[in-house]
Amino acid sequence: MYLGFGYYYTYLTLCIIVMSLLKPEKQNDAITLSDRYLRDIRQQMLTLFETDKTVIDFGCGGGEFLKLLEPHVRYAIGIDRSFPKNSYAYDKDLRCGKNITFIKKVITRDISIDFNFEIATSTLFLHTVPRPTTLQLMALMREKARKAILCELTHPANLYSNMLLSIDQFFTGHKANFEEFKAKGCMEGLLYECGIKEYRIIPTKDKSLNFYCIDFEY
Ligand SMILES: C[S@@+](CC[C@H](N)C(=O)[O-])C[C@H]1O[C@@H](n2cnc3c(N)ncnc32)[C@H](O)[C@@H]1O
Repeated sequence: MYLGFGYYYTYLTLCIIVMSLLKPEKQNDAITLSDRYLRDIRQQMLTLFETDKTVIDFGCGGGEFLKLLEPHVRYAIGIDRSFPKNSYAYDKDLRCGKNITFIKKVITRDISIDFNFEIATSTLFLHTVPRPTTLQLMALMREKARKAILCELTHPANLYSNMLLSIDQFFTGHKANFEEFKAKGCMEGLLYECGIKEYRIIPTKDKSLNFYCIDFEY
């Protein structure tokens, strides 16, 4: 049933509310549930990546997208401030990674990276960090990568969608950063502020999420 607003918020908000009423250790289940919801979107995102490229994923979370990408990538790095227990990224820490490395780092404190990449990516990350960091990240991607493939929130379509989003952002702890991201025109506003005028927007099955493909060499 299509309810006229992004499924993602409804799904994630309900998961988070239910899980927050349960024991704290159940919070990881909310992550698993949202991962399950994002599965189709990640599969669609995978089709945007050419094979045998080097990739960096900012705010990679449990590494679910890099896990999908692993057979197709030459080399990839995932960066996040924490890796949930039992996630792919967390387990990967314990064994010898082949072509994927996960680095635990707080990007707002240290944004530097030493290598160049063919593709920079992030999923639902840019709206979670303060605006200055988002701008720095875009500049870093432009400097270090040839392309960026980003999955981000779009402007909520109506009041109800807006309310669900606010609840979701409140529970996930980045409401203030998201409000600024939204007030400044979501991805379109960010790309405009960065002087990036040429990019492709690819819709997903969820009206609240789009892919933004930027060719920095254009
Ligand atoms: C909404 S989640 C998205 C995770 C992942 N990209 C995915 O698709 O499942 C945002 C991620 O950003 C990470 N994050 C937020 N602020 C961060 C920071 N300052 N430095 C590094 N990671 C951060 C969180 O730990 C979380 O994993």
